Amino acid sequence: MDILINEEKLQKRIQEIAKEIEKEYEGKQILFLGVLKGSVPFLWELAKNIKNDIRFEFIEVSSYQGTESTGKIKINKDITQSITGKDVIIVEDIVDTGRTLTFLKQYILEKKPNSLKIAALLSKPSRRVIEIDVDHIGFEIEDKFVVGFGLDYDQKYRNLPYVGYIE
Ligand code: IMP
Ligand code: MG
Repeated sequence: MDILINEEKLQKRIQEIAKEIEKEYEGKQILFLGVLKGSVPFLWELAKNIKNDIRFEFIEVSSYQGTESTGKIKINKDITQSITGKDVIIVEDIVDTGRTLTFLKQYILEKKPNSLKIAALLSKPSRRVIEIDVDHIGFEIEDKFVVGFGLDYDQKYRNLPYVGYIE
């Protein structure tokens, strides 16, 4: 396994994003909406570095292959609390084609939050199919399949403390 982003770099960058969020939300309550399962380590590292009152919610989605590769998204686990009027930040591991976050943004906006932002640990801009505004991005990376720090290959490697890639 080759290391792309080591633990120290991850911690440092996540702390920077945490400070940005603290400034933006100035003592407000925030609802972190984590996208299972890959966002869990990022969500926790962010949350523990922010002093605001942060509530957790989770959703699990997956894309399914139809006859054409339209990459439709379905919800595997839905949210269980009302988010109407809340200040929501969707927390995601990686933005690839942009389909997942485009779907989730629309889905959450329909529930009328007070505000909605997106934080993603990684982004692969060269893979984008749908343009999506991401408010906080940890690292922009090239088109490599990455694992670790929540990201998996066939459910494996999520617990690596760094982001690595398989050649
Ligand atoms: P998108 O809908 O194409 O943006 O896909 C986002 C999802 O694809 C992420 O939430 C990941 O679960 C998965 N994904 C995309 N690239 C990678 C990768 O390099 N490693 C592991 N998972 C990935
Ligand atoms: Mg994911």
